[in-house]
Amino acid sequence: MVEIGVIGGDGIGQEVVHAGMRVLEAAAGQEPGLELSFTEFPWGCEYYLEHGRMMPEDGLDTLAGCDAIYLGAVGWPTVPDHVSLWGLLLPIRRAFDQYVNLRPARLLQGVKSPLAAPDDLDITVVRENTEGEYSDSGGRVYRDTPHEIAVQESIFTRRGVERIIRYAFEEAESRRGLLVGATKSNGISITMPFFDEIFREISSEFPDVEASLMHADALAARLVLAPGSFDVVVGSNLFGDLLSEVTAAIAGAIGIAPSANLNPEGVYPSLFEPIHGSAPDIAGDGVANPAGAIWAGSLMLDHLGHHDTGARVLSALEETLASGTKTSDLGGSASTDEMTDSVVRRLEDNH
Ligand SMILES: NC(=O)c1ccc[n+]([C@@H]2O[C@H](COP(=O)([O-])OP(=O)(O)OC[C@H]3O[C@@H](n4cnc5c(N)ncnc54)[C@H](O)[C@@H]3O)[C@@H](O)[C@H]2O)c1
Repeated sequence: MVEIGVIGGDGIGQEVVHAGMRVLEAAAGQEPGLELSFTEFPWGCEYYLEHGRMMPEDGLDTLAGCDAIYLGAVGWPTVPDHVSLWGLLLPIRRAFDQYVNLRPARLLQGVKSPLAAPDDLDITVVRENTEGEYSDSGGRVYRDTPHEIAVQESIFTRRGVERIIRYAFEEAESRRGLLVGATKSNGISITMPFFDEIFREISSEFPDVEASLMHADALAARLVLAPGSFDVVVGSNLFGDLLSEVTAAIAGAIGIAPSANLNPEGVYPSLFEPIHGSAPDIAGDGVANPAGAIWAGSLMLDHLGHHDTGARVLSALEETLASGTKTSDLGGSASTDEMTDSVVRRLEDNH
């Protein structure tokens, strides 16, 4: 039995994880011996308003017993975003040492890219997820005076940089063998040369991977101009975050893109989520695009070793989109339920 902890969270987060669970259940039912058990946790902004915290004090201990975590979205206008983020998602990423944030982006059939003529797009961004620029280290002094100062440290450890770069090389080796590292060593003169140095050191362990470093600004431009020239991109927490938004945008819509927060060694559970937020503007309307959550579910199955079942989920999703059954953000008229029904039906038809 595979135990999956589910945090639907806020707004459309609830709607899309329920869609994703239906698809995952249907897919698991087709693999002999695979049984998924979902336990839902009602944590998020509503919970915060009632209890003064985003999850219970022993929330992390509870999640530690799961094989994987499936998350919708967290954040709502009644709670400041830094409170919701630092109260739930970031503690999970850090406590469970989910140091890889994997963000695949592909041009799926039936989805139109905003680029007029994208040459192709099948890129995985590997983002460092536990250190770097998103540290909580620093402070502000001389508040509310003209001399006010804000300092925030970037933290790059050899262990942290080595493991994310090594993971990215392995990912590239298992794909088309191309890896680009996002640097900015021309302007950021201490941490980025350190990142580059380790990138070059590790590249000697992977002679079959064609590896290069590119300044993050030029890389962002090249992703737009020639997305087909990339395979795997690795970046620090900040650069990986920004560049994966670019690849997600090129892929057509925010509602499609998934993200995996991985503890590759499996010591702790990994977390799978769509990259979009709680979309207060459409929450409750039943029109949220479930594709990102379904694709995230496919990544979860893959991570848990059910590669074929994960791949079948992604094929059924792509066939659904190609057939024109899609939500309004993609130019269609299907509801969340109709699109989910179609994915489930295709899984059954393909079986
Ligand atoms: N990982 C997370 O949990 C996560 C990620 C991003 C934002 N958030 C939070 O979500 C809240 C809203 O953030 P936001 O408005 O900046 O971003 P958002 O992703 O929620 O919405 C941006 C726009 O995209 C649309 N959209 C997003 N997902 C969609 C989907 N699946 N189908 C159709 N349309 C979709 C929305 O309707 C909206 O117009 C904030 O509180 C924010 O902090 C959480």
